[in-house]
Amino acid sequence: MCGIMGYAGSGNAVPVIIDGLAKLEYRGYDSAGIAIYQDGDLVVTKKKGRLADMVNELGEWPQSILGIGHTRWATHGVPSDHNAHPHMDCHGRIALVHNGIIENYAPLRKELILEGHDFVSETDTEVMAHLVEKYYDGSLEEAVRKALSCVYGSFAIVVISADEPDKIIAAKKASPLVVGLGDGENYLASDIPAILSRTRRVYIIEDNEFVVLTSNSVAISDFDGNPIEKEVLEVDWDMEAAEKGGFEHFMLKEIHEQPEAIRKTLSGRIKDARVDFSDLNFADYLQNTSKIFIVACGTAYHAGLVGRMAIEKLAAVPVETDIASEFRYRRVLWKPGDLMIVISQSGETADTLAALREAKRNGIKVLAVTNVVGSAVAREADWVIFTHAGPEIAVASTKAYSTQLVVMYLLALYMADLRKSYDAEKISKMVTELLYIDTLVEQVLQEQDKIKALAEKYQGVQDTFFLGRGLDYAVAMEGALKLKEISYVHAEAYAAGELKHGPLALIDDGVPVLALITQDKLVEKTMSNIKEVKARGAIVVAVCKENLQEACQECDEQILLPRVNPLLAPIVSVIPLQIFSYYMAIFRGADVDKPRNLAKSVTVE
Ligand code: M6R
Repeated sequence: MCGIMGYAGSGNAVPVIIDGLAKLEYRGYDSAGIAIYQDGDLVVTKKKGRLADMVNELGEWPQSILGIGHTRWATHGVPSDHNAHPHMDCHGRIALVHNGIIENYAPLRKELILEGHDFVSETDTEVMAHLVEKYYDGSLEEAVRKALSCVYGSFAIVVISADEPDKIIAAKKASPLVVGLGDGENYLASDIPAILSRTRRVYIIEDNEFVVLTSNSVAISDFDGNPIEKEVLEVDWDMEAAEKGGFEHFMLKEIHEQPEAIRKTLSGRIKDARVDFSDLNFADYLQNTSKIFIVACGTAYHAGLVGRMAIEKLAAVPVETDIASEFRYRRVLWKPGDLMIVISQSGETADTLAALREAKRNGIKVLAVTNVVGSAVAREADWVIFTHAGPEIAVASTKAYSTQLVVMYLLALYMADLRKSYDAEKISKMVTELLYIDTLVEQVLQEQDKIKALAEKYQGVQDTFFLGRGLDYAVAMEGALKLKEISYVHAEAYAAGELKHGPLALIDDGVPVLALITQDKLVEKTMSNIKEVKARGAIVVAVCKENLQEACQECDEQILLPRVNPLLAPIVSVIPLQIFSYYMAIFRGADVDKPRNLAKSVTVE
């Protein structure tokens, strides 16, 4: 996620902005930039790489009473000097920074180019700078309001103009923004840590709010200009708590960021109840491919298992899902026209990258699903779909997984539409359900305290089992990985029907079994397996859709999930497993964000 910092006051904007951006560095970024007002002009410095690189480029710190700064986490356009923010209008009189995605940037860009505007970057953001220029008629505030009425998507934008050097204009929709209140100086930032050393008095800006900020005043209104009264929030967090947004750990913060991450991944991908990947120009290839290999590691591999079932069911194409470290050393029977899909949060995982290169050596096209623009996987694949989850800092993957699932569903639905392999009405119904899945995730997050209580109760166990059939089995694997990874409790996932072929011997009095029950057609079969483990003394915790609750009455504990299309259920059912693992780790005193022996990005074989 990008970092934003703005300053208006009588001091020097430059150190305030640099210090604010430094406080946001923990969120991850790939370039940095600053725009300040100086002697009637705006001076912009921006650089790919670390904030320190940009500061070097800046040289001796100039004096300025107004400025904005940005650290960029690339979404549209590779990390580079020219894609770094701030972006400017054609005449260098307006500078703008942005966090989020302007979904309709492509048609707007075309229109603005036809009107004579010169673009210098590949970003979606730059259209905003040119729109503000287009509507500027002596009032920056009015120009920004008009520009906002042309765009849709998610944004926190912050704008200054050389012609109105006393003010900063900002607006927010679905990306964070706060105002810090100082004494004769005021601040704007994407997050509280950026301003915490300067003030503890803040306004949290809500969606669809518009800010006009000077050194002595802050006026907040809606996008139409109707004034909004806000309460000042007195922040009593320390810096560490502020970085985690008030959550105790990054993992918990990232679990709670999932609804927003899902919305961002879906953003711009659904038009008129149909999936839109027209920007990728892979429709012909996807229409004709007759075999897909999905290759990934760890959590990303588990997302691939769900992807396989979704693609096979909807698009009727045979899919193999492989662990990358295995795939690279087996004999693969490639055929021309096959497709490889690699999934990787970091885009740098050595085994996944090796599998990608192997496919390319064999003339196979590769589609990458990754969270990191400019990563090796993104650079080397033929096509890339970005997950837009924002930086994931905890080693345990949570929001990366749910957004990878979203991409796999989008892909399966898109292919089904292209190949006419599934009932058209059912496809559009499912597309609409996907569009609202974030609200179901929000509902499950409300169950946190109940799940925490379960973790407290079972914190002392040595072994756990996760069971499920079909998609529930894929999610069981992810649940077991999460638990062992951060709490160090032995956790095994089994396809429920496989139990009596061996693992049942391990079930004994008091062994917790987490059973996933979301697949309506398989519920009776799973229940028979649950009876088998209960008869041997297991304690069964059911993670169960509420419409199937009747069937799982005899389970010892129940975590109820809202009704959801069985195919989409993994996005919802994984949430309690993430929360359970998190609290198990907490109660057992483990280092949740940095589990022993593990690294966030595995760049060695
Ligand atoms: O960056 P990648 O998605 O390629 O990483 C793959 C795995 O290393 C990763 O998912 C790992 O399993 C997570 N720590 C699990 O939480």
